[in-house]
Amino acid sequence: MPTPRETIKVIAHRGASADAPEHTLAAYRKAIEDGADGLECDVRLTADGHLVCVHDRRVNRTSNGRGAVSALELADLAGLDFGSWKDTTRVGPVGPGAGLDTAVPVPPVSERPQWDAERTSVLTLERLLELVSDAGRRVELAIETKHPTRWAGQVEERLMTLLHRFGLDAPASAAESPVRVMSFSARSLHRVRAASPHLPTVQLMQFVGVRHRDGRLPPGVGISGPSIRILRGHPSYVEQVHRAGNRVHVWTVDEPADVALCADLGVDAVITNRPRAVLEQLGRG
Ligand code: G3P
Ligand code: CA
Repeated sequence: MPTPRETIKVIAHRGASADAPEHTLAAYRKAIEDGADGLECDVRLTADGHLVCVHDRRVNRTSNGRGAVSALELADLAGLDFGSWKDTTRVGPVGPGAGLDTAVPVPPVSERPQWDAERTSVLTLERLLELVSDAGRRVELAIETKHPTRWAGQVEERLMTLLHRFGLDAPASAAESPVRVMSFSARSLHRVRAASPHLPTVQLMQFVGVRHRDGRLPPGVGISGPSIRILRGHPSYVEQVHRAGNRVHVWTVDEPADVALCADLGVDAVITNRPRAVLEQLGRG
């Protein structure tokens, strides 16, 4: 059955990452303030075994440091600035002169009152779980395991240990769980299900392969996570997944035309960098 547009879940991709530096406390707090139903984050293991919220293999794009997350220790990452890069790439001039051709100096993100160092330093999954626990309302968390095969189960093992600490590792049913695990790796999802059969899992996909035709998913996986490109080319995919008894969580849905498409098709959740705008478009602003 298509999901009515008012009940489509809006999940903040890397936090409210159109407005604040991705995967920082600033971005996740903004998403919660904006009213997002849930938060999406990517997790990677550091050299000393901590799960941190970083999308890329290296920290080069989103911090002032260099190197692979897997080669750095948490203490190394803690010394980096994961906020200031957003200044030059996404935030335009502010104050007198804004909009004119003359260059207006913009203070670094970390010097702006709303984005202090704590809010833009590397975020551990543990800290994100604390934020969600303290939110004062139900906030879902969609955790994506990145390149888990390289670590032969360590990512999932560490993840389950952390979820256990927060009482989130063994929900009575998938529907009750505020946490779900997503991955492009079917093997990673299999490991999660083996550890916790009721924890919901999402099979992410860039295209619909032979194994996923007719809305089929790997055994035990109840949610399909197609790219929005899949739905643009094959809108009937949503109906196929629903008919197979599964749900559809689409990424990354930022454009108004894509939000409208998802609403028409009745997907179950949209994952977006712009949670406030999407909530407004769905009539929940
Ligand atoms: O939510 C799924 C989506 O995040 C997958 O792509 O590259 O943004 O992690 P990516
Ligand atoms: Ca992701």
